[in-house]
Amino acid sequence: MLSEKMEKALNKQINAELYSSYLYLSMATYFDSIGLKGFSNWMRIQAKEELTHAMKIFDYVTERRGRVRLFSIEQPPSDWESPLDAFEAVLKHEMKVTGMINELVDKALEEKDHATYTMLQWFVMEQVEEESSASEIVEKLRFVGNDRGALFAIDQELGRRQFVEGGE
Ligand code: FEO
Repeated sequence: MLSEKMEKALNKQINAELYSSYLYLSMATYFDSIGLKGFSNWMRIQAKEELTHAMKIFDYVTERRGRVRLFSIEQPPSDWESPLDAFEAVLKHEMKVTGMINELVDKALEEKDHATYTMLQWFVMEQVEEESSASEIVEKLRFVGNDRGALFAIDQELGRRQFVEGGE
């Protein structure tokens, strides 16, 4: 059985992962609106991955005989100033999520909840990857600046990203 405190914290994280999905979907439509289909593809896949993150916790809470509670999802922003502005927002958001995951790990330790602690280790490593891929794109975008040809090349590259079921 999950403790009430742990259950509540995990439900909050489900909401945060669903919000992440919503945020990236919003970024996908922003990129569609400025004709960057590859960037949009990257965001659509990211949005799907966030759903899988939410479901991992959803299934875990259920397996531990807890109760999933779904809360309202905050409205995400819908416009950014540039691709760089959007990706800086991705990085900032992922850093915030990392902080949330770390707090959950702390809580699991406090509660001596070893199963939740172990389940969360996947998320700890996933956040390393999430921050790393976002900052790699931020750096590229900073490097190319206003060079439209280079931006097009990045768009092509991001367009090749594919969703890998269970791979995240
Ligand atoms: Fe679910 Fe982007 O962390």
